[in-house]
Amino acid sequence: MSQRGASELQGRLRRARRVAVLTGAGVSAESGVPTFRGTEGLWRQHRAEDLATPEAFRRDPKLVWEWYDWRRQLIAKCLPNPAHQAIAALERDAPEFLLITQNVDGLHRKAGSVRLVELHGNLWRVRCVRDERTMENFDVPLRQIPPRCECGAPLRPDVVWFGEALPAEALRRAFDAAESCEVFLVVGTSAVVQPAASLPMIAREHGAYVAEVNLEPTPLTSIAHESHHGKAGEILPRLLGFPSGRPGSDNFEFRNSNFAISPPDPHR
Ligand code: OAD
Repeated sequence: MSQRGASELQGRLRRARRVAVLTGAGVSAESGVPTFRGTEGLWRQHRAEDLATPEAFRRDPKLVWEWYDWRRQLIAKCLPNPAHQAIAALERDAPEFLLITQNVDGLHRKAGSVRLVELHGNLWRVRCVRDERTMENFDVPLRQIPPRCECGAPLRPDVVWFGEALPAEALRRAFDAAESCEVFLVVGTSAVVQPAASLPMIAREHGAYVAEVNLEPTPLTSIAHESHHGKAGEILPRLLGFPSGRPGSDNFEFRNSNFAISPPDPHR
């Protein structure tokens, strides 16, 4: 973990009325969900233009749906990890709280997060291309590719593709939270995709204390008040002070965690 001086985060969180958290694919990496960038990232093996744009869907809906079906099958087997659990526990303590996620995997909800916005949509929702109606769909694998709405029109994944606008209400809530929070925590995002990447900067400009957890330095590291480098599932529970579950939090448990209660690291 790279961090100069002691972490102020727990004290800041205790005193804060308004807390916001931004997450990216890295928070789900330890659950087995592939990230987008990095050596094993999805965008190393696939071209986003072929799979995650409206043009790609118009050109070849079957190819696009096959890729989403593959991702849904993979994610259906994944469980929330201690990082998701720690964020859900943080929410239960905060008077005003918003989790802003770029992830479409649904693992934050599975971990118990309630006050959240999914900026890039959700893999488990589909949308009719004719009337824009959205509905949940948990079929794994899909029964038909592409799946069809009861009106007969094709359904598309209810996710945001490159070149598309983000859901307006989710975006408004995310910006409001960034502008008004006292603590802004960023976990597992490369912080290169806008507009999500600008939220921590906005929070900092409005006076928030900004903390980051990521495997490696990112463009945010230089603006964060504190930055912790390592696996979110290992760092976050200790950093937030939820090392081994909390009274009253039923689903707060650590699966696949090698975390053990230990004294503060004097080298941090
Ligand atoms: P990226 O794949 O760009 O970045 C993942 C980040 O997580 C990297 O900075 C990694 O260093 C970090 N990371 C990986 N494993 C980690 C771990 N165990 N603990 C902590 N950090 C870890 O994913 P995002 O930033 O989420 O958009 O990407 C943003 C958007 O770009 C995605 O929502 C997606 C993508 O194209 C759309 O599809 C619209």
